[in-house]
Amino acid sequence: MLVKKPLPSAGMAAPSTAPSTDEVALWYHTLDLPGRAPTPGWFDLRPVLGRLPWPEVRGRRCLDVATYDGFFAFELERRGAAEVVATDISDHHQWDWPAPIREAAGDQLGLIAGDKGSGFAAAHAALGSRVEKIEVNVYDLDPGQLGRFDVVVLGSLLLHLRDPVRALEAVRSVTAGWFMSVEAISLPLTLLARRRPVAELARDDSVCQWWTVNAAGHRRLLEAAGFEVISASRPFAEPFGSAHPASGARGGLRDRAFRGLCRATLGGVGVPHSALLARPRR
Ligand SMILES: C[S@@+](CC[C@H](N)C(=O)[O-])C[C@H]1O[C@@H](n2cnc3c(N)ncnc32)[C@H](O)[C@@H]1O
Repeated sequence: MLVKKPLPSAGMAAPSTAPSTDEVALWYHTLDLPGRAPTPGWFDLRPVLGRLPWPEVRGRRCLDVATYDGFFAFELERRGAAEVVATDISDHHQWDWPAPIREAAGDQLGLIAGDKGSGFAAAHAALGSRVEKIEVNVYDLDPGQLGRFDVVVLGSLLLHLRDPVRALEAVRSVTAGWFMSVEAISLPLTLLARRRPVAELARDDSVCQWWTVNAAGHRRLLEAAGFEVISASRPFAEPFGSAHPASGARGGLRDRAFRGLCRATLGGVGVPHSALLARPRR
């Protein structure tokens, strides 16, 4: 199902339905917004912007899939995109929850995270952004409804999907130019198997994670979905934001070992990621 959520254009007053930035129950992204301290996000992507293989976005039609609070969508706008569309699911029940918790998990996440999209709406109003938000599941991306985009960005979603290749095929269907995939990867599997694509299947239902690939696996997923990978970042850490439970935490031996490995191999602490720039194979 595709639902267009019209949001205020630059200069227009925020609608009364947009929550204030102080009313957002949980921020996923650390965002710089006018007139307040950075939002207390779970993840702070600001330091990794310079490590990503950005294509030219100025003057281009751009799409940010699975936007959450909109970090990449607002960044595309800041970089001069002519038009930015941001998509996400409409409610917490639409995540690919494993069967044992499918009924209850959406409600439980709602209690913690609040209304889906409230952070995006608050940030959008605070920024006076022109980004257009559309509620559509990644599997349902359709060029007949959305058109095609010069630049598509997808961050940290594939590990949450039961069928990442089907999702990537849908992404490819709306990609006319460049696709930048910024995805969580397994650091141990990346170090152990540099060229062989491998994935680990999660054991914990509650985090709604499925396949965590190594860096070679990330590339392989895109190729299997019909993309040609043009360039790749070195693996990097997506830093925890101030609200993340792991932020600043000094846990046990395992946690300290993970942090040491991150520092030694990724240059910082956070969730290991790799970023690929690709285009649809002709
Ligand atoms: C881990 S967050 C990543 C947010 C952002 N893209 C980033 O890179 O920081 C995952 C996002 O994917 C969205 N999502 C989960 N399942 C989805 C699906 N099937 N289709 C589209 N979006 C989905 C979630 O609502 C959430 O906004």
